[in-house]
Amino acid sequence: MRELKNLDWEHLGFIYRPCEKRYVAEYKNGAWSEGGLSDDPEVRINECAGILQYCQECFEGLKAYETSKGEIVCFRPDLNAERMYNSAEYLCMPPFPKERFLAALEETVKANLAYVPPYGSGASLYIRPYMFASGPVIGVKPSDEYTFRMIVMPVGPYYTGGAKPIAIMVSDFDRAAPHGTGHVKAGLNYAMSMHAHEVAAKAGYTENLYLDPARRKYVEETGGANVFFISQDKKTFVTPKSDSILPSITKRSLVYVAEHMLGLKVEERPVEFAELPEFSECGMCGTAAVISPVGRIHDHGRDIVFGKSMEEAGPVTMKLYETLTGIQLGTVEAPEGWIYRIA
Ligand code: PLP
Ligand code: COI
Repeated sequence: MRELKNLDWEHLGFIYRPCEKRYVAEYKNGAWSEGGLSDDPEVRINECAGILQYCQECFEGLKAYETSKGEIVCFRPDLNAERMYNSAEYLCMPPFPKERFLAALEETVKANLAYVPPYGSGASLYIRPYMFASGPVIGVKPSDEYTFRMIVMPVGPYYTGGAKPIAIMVSDFDRAAPHGTGHVKAGLNYAMSMHAHEVAAKAGYTENLYLDPARRKYVEETGGANVFFISQDKKTFVTPKSDSILPSITKRSLVYVAEHMLGLKVEERPVEFAELPEFSECGMCGTAAVISPVGRIHDHGRDIVFGKSMEEAGPVTMKLYETLTGIQLGTVEAPEGWIYRIA
């Protein structure tokens, strides 16, 4: 039996809780240092560091779970390693090698096993790898020095409704420009969304639904998750295709689950906002969001409602939720290569 910290696993919330160890590597003189675990949760950087001046940073989010068999696993971390590599390249940062990302993940999770929430608690260990410009710059240019860190913390669901539907609002603001940075996981995109999020929260909504910034005709995604829809006849899974949304690993997995495990037709295509009333279910999906059913979308004085609205999630959304979480927790057989065993 592994040692477990004495935490209220069912009521963790989604908040920062420092764990004992984090992984740190530094990029200097054209190369990444060997890297290793550290006890220090504080970061000391130059006052003119690129991250502080021009926000040169990217990050990832993934989770470790205890399965029904008592193993500690991660869900498709190779795709996080790859996405972080692509984000770094786009932001003119030296990418952290993918195999080193996976080695750092193993080392960090193994060093914090006592913080992985027990099977059945509904919680998981959130892993936040991130990389930022730590060297000084004052002209707008890439830094010469970078820091890679991987921190972990036990968390509960991001949207506290769990399987209960939430209400979201169509934003009047944009999160990412056409041909901009919406497809990379950069902190700057989230800074862009904070004002919009505050407006939505004050109006009583959990999240914003962003439309395509050029024409406001197509659906993009929410501030922290991709979206999907289910047709009226419950046979088709529809999800927006756009170059300015984050290529969600959860969404890519659901596309496979829908088609190959649940026998649904899958359409990944531009989705017009005007089509939304034709769908019977709507959900948000992501690592933190898992699958969060959307009961209602508020749009300037009118509401688009799905199924039984805020009362309960639709049956296809629930089936997707059960299959995805079953794969992650080891109760549903996973497609080849999806589960990465750590301990
Ligand atoms: N879209 C945004 C804006 C996100 O922040 C996230 C979270 O990571 C996602 C989508 C979902 O991506 P993933 O399923 O890879 O976690
Ligand atoms: C994640 O799902 O990992 C994210 O980064 C989304 C964020 C809103 C917490």
